[in-house]
Amino acid sequence: MKHLRSIDELSGEAIRSLLDLADAMAEVNQRPIPKVPALRGRTVVSLFFEDSTRTRLSFETAAKRLSADTMTFSVSTSSVNKGESLRDTIETVSAMGVDAFVVRHRTSGVPWQISQWTDAAIINAGDGWHQHPTQALLDAYTIRTRLGCSGGLEGLHIAIVGDVKHSRVARSDVQAFTKLGARVTLVAPATLLPASLEGWPVTVCNNLDDLIADIDVLYLLRMQIERQEQSLVPSLREYSTRFGLDDVRARRLQDHALVMHPGPMNRGVEIVVDPALLRGSVITEQVANGVSVRMAVLFHLLGQGSELVDESGGQ
Ligand code: NCD
Repeated sequence: MKHLRSIDELSGEAIRSLLDLADAMAEVNQRPIPKVPALRGRTVVSLFFEDSTRTRLSFETAAKRLSADTMTFSVSTSSVNKGESLRDTIETVSAMGVDAFVVRHRTSGVPWQISQWTDAAIINAGDGWHQHPTQALLDAYTIRTRLGCSGGLEGLHIAIVGDVKHSRVARSDVQAFTKLGARVTLVAPATLLPASLEGWPVTVCNNLDDLIADIDVLYLLRMQIERQEQSLVPSLREYSTRFGLDDVRARRLQDHALVMHPGPMNRGVEIVVDPALLRGSVITEQVANGVSVRMAVLFHLLGQGSELVDESGGQ
């Protein structure tokens, strides 16, 4: 595997072994000095053409904990503002000797284009509405750590609720969860579902109350107002009443059920209760696991097998 641009590029078996590697990384992250020399001498560049807090910091933390050198490309202060094309930017940065680009772009497909212009590994950190593979891996890892059996998500019923239409997280999660053996139901009004669900291995339900008491995982999506060209729900308040997680719905969840969200949350829209007071909320655990999972991906793409085993603390 040279790149990670889509969950499509991974078999169920490959996902399992990345999650096993993430377990080893989580162990590194618990050490007093959470750092290993595995990627010393490698350079990882984050190239974010769209706003991000957690994903960019998570990748940069992951790269640093593996001792890679990191560079951040900030679009707002770059030559892109002088009209430089994406291709020129990539070729210029590549010429400095880069091993991996972590790319986020508002246009679907950009990570594939970029991989034609450089020899570096490309990791997709979100392209348009299309894919966000490391988010799906960290979500799968979080569920597996809490509820998984046989190394996967066999037998679990996961509801993904909300703005599926604009969500690269939903597209990637559906693929990853089902490849690991889970059953996925999408819960949304018709206006927030993709025009066609052909080829999606899911069932659809438009009433959250019909299944909330039966699911193992409630995955809430952010209402992606900035990606909507027109108003797709009568009002955010009406959406929240029908699909938001409030106290009444939270009480109907099974005792073991997890509540997840990729962040950033719209409080009062998809989540009305305070997540900090929810028994099953693993939202901050998702963020913490993101570092271990991204370490696993970087190591898998750039590392050389045995280097991780070094127990010296990597200094
Ligand atoms: C997601 C994204 O950017 O796709 N956020 C993230 O990476 N944690 C989800 C979102 O923006 O709703």
